[in-house]
Amino acid sequence: MAVTRTFSIIKPDATRRNLTGAVTKMLEDAGLRVVASKRIRMTREQAEGFYAVHKERPFFGELVEFMTSGPVVVQVLEGVDAVKRNRDVMGATNPADAAEGTIRKTFAESIEANSVHGSDSDENAKIEIDFFFDEDEIVG
Ligand code: TYD
Repeated sequence: MAVTRTFSIIKPDATRRNLTGAVTKMLEDAGLRVVASKRIRMTREQAEGFYAVHKERPFFGELVEFMTSGPVVVQVLEGVDAVKRNRDVMGATNPADAAEGTIRKTFAESIEANSVHGSDSDENAKIEIDFFFDEDEIVG
């Protein structure tokens, strides 16, 4: 299996509770390497653009409010089969459905405040990485 990249966000509910390190440790323990990282306050335009695929969904407005409610940490992660590895350690979208030992089971507060984002395909990983990072900010 090839070493690939994925895109991660540590969401406002996690930064608010000072869990950036704890979440990152779970990512690293799962075999992922942080090759780019920055703490930002997402603008409304960024949040709306990033989640454009969900714009017709009933939760879109609240999701944008939540993602702009505090700092987030955007990261590029590298590892063998990175997208799947990250999705596995994140756990299900709704923490009530997430497996024991996953980030969302351990830390998430609700289906909305679910602590982390992770790309769902190699194609979307590239789009999402390009949305937040220049290539020279990624150091493998
Ligand atoms: P989605 O892409 O379905 O999940 P995932 O983050 O696991 O890839 O949804 C994106 C985000 O939208 C999700 O992390 C939290 C939010 N969301 C809600 O607030 N309510 C919902 O009912 C769903 C499905 C998602």
